[in-house]
Amino acid sequence: MAEDSLKEQSEGSILTRRYFLETIGGGAIGIVAAGSAVLTGQFLSPNVLREPPLKFRAGPTENFPPESVTLNKEQKVFIVRAKEGYFSAVSAVCTHLGCITNWKSEEEIIACPCHGSKFDKEGNVLEGPAPRPLPRFAMTLDEQGQLVVDKGVMVGEEVILKV
Ligand code: FES
Repeated sequence: MAEDSLKEQSEGSILTRRYFLETIGGGAIGIVAAGSAVLTGQFLSPNVLREPPLKFRAGPTENFPPESVTLNKEQKVFIVRAKEGYFSAVSAVCTHLGCITNWKSEEEIIACPCHGSKFDKEGNVLEGPAPRPLPRFAMTLDEQGQLVVDKGVMVGEEVILKV
């Protein structure tokens, strides 16, 4: 009778140990499977950098008074309106090392705060170390009267939008 009780206790503790080891093993396998699934999902998903679209609406023409230079901070583009009503879009990213330039209305220049490059309102270099002019982008007017800038299309100084 005492022997049977000992055997039951012994079997009970073996089952408990077995149950414990099965649970730990199952948990470990589950963690490994979940990790593998996550890594496989990351491997299969496209590795792309999400950036804002290159084409954007800058706003209606009446937002830009004649002879104004307005920085669109989000897009890093100056919207330049000449006295005659011509529009152009000039990049605000310095061609030296990529700092964001500022319009200095009192001097009528675009100035880089990093190393002192200066540009005119058309983006031409007035003072280095910037090696090249600021790029100019294609600009159109949509059917709602909004200026549309396409940073994917660079244009020369001769290309202007007359409204
Ligand atoms: S980054 Fe503009 S002058 Fe150096």
